[in-house]
Amino acid sequence: MTLKTLTMEWTGDCLILVDQRKLPHSKVFVHCKTFEEVAFAIKDMVVRGAPAIGVTAAFGYVLGAKQFDGKNDEFLEFMKKVRQTLASTRPTAVNLFWALDRMEKVLNESINLDRKSIIKRLEEEALKMAYEDIETNRSIGMHGQNLLKDNDTVLTHCNAGALATVDYGTAIGVIRAAVENGKKIRVFVDETRPYLQGARLTTWELVQLGIETILITDNMAGWVMKKGLVNAVIVGADRIAANGDVANKIGTYSLAVLAKKHGIPFYVAAPTSTIDLTIKDGTEIPIEERPHEEVTHVQGIRIAAEGVKVYNPAFDVTENELITAIITEKGIVKPPYSENLKKLFLR
Ligand code: MRU
Repeated sequence: MTLKTLTMEWTGDCLILVDQRKLPHSKVFVHCKTFEEVAFAIKDMVVRGAPAIGVTAAFGYVLGAKQFDGKNDEFLEFMKKVRQTLASTRPTAVNLFWALDRMEKVLNESINLDRKSIIKRLEEEALKMAYEDIETNRSIGMHGQNLLKDNDTVLTHCNAGALATVDYGTAIGVIRAAVENGKKIRVFVDETRPYLQGARLTTWELVQLGIETILITDNMAGWVMKKGLVNAVIVGADRIAANGDVANKIGTYSLAVLAKKHGIPFYVAAPTSTIDLTIKDGTEIPIEERPHEEVTHVQGIRIAAEGVKVYNPAFDVTENELITAIITEKGIVKPPYSENLKKLFLR
């Protein structure tokens, strides 16, 4: 079985990723044949977005198993190293660890089989995860689109579209599903400094889908809300704590505060694989800090004085009280999140 979407292609011995660092200027592909190459692709953001990172890591795990050419009794130790390398790429999106746990479980369950059969099982699991992700996003879209009316304008941040997943998207999936259901939806897209996922990736996706898209810089969000131009904010998530606190791209928190001030519903669209019930609240979510050059430079061009200090957290945490609802593939979750998120896992 193979897989081919906009974000990734699995050929059986190679994971081909569209290079998201280069979009929208050029559509080039990065070929990963080793788990080390996959780890680099995640860390350097060739591929990004929580669900896409998880599935990419799963294929990296398969490549790791294929690479091993040592003695049988060294295989498990080698696979631990593979896991560690993939897990140490980006700390915030829990989908990465969720996917690796799933792969490790399959490895442990099939460890008494011959190597070829183990690899087959691992490959089947990674592909299953990839196809499940597409289904999950469609379900998120189906549930979430009920929250949107014809002629609504949605504001979104970063990229929670097809590129951030295997296909279809989460927050963008909700917008797509509304449009597929005959509603006219207009979208304000925050450019999303410093890495510009909104300007570079989300506008690229939405324009191709024929959805009316208006790009704004991040600091314009408050003003467009004040002017009454926004009916709903919908964003993705990298990790949702047991109490409903949400880690997402830096700037999400400011949007949630602004949405509250202006009485605009603030929705988070995410698969249940992004929910981490092992952590109590958002204070426990590890927040990745990224290279200073992402702030001092725009697309390789320096915009700040030499010698300046920089703080570059890639994510922030939005408290549950600012979130109107969390849209998952299993349905829409409303407060109290501590009770209602738990219930999702009993279904
Ligand atoms: O740093 P990134 O581009 O990986 O951050 C992506 C986001 O913050 C997304 O909103 C999140 O991963 C959800 S993607 C469906």
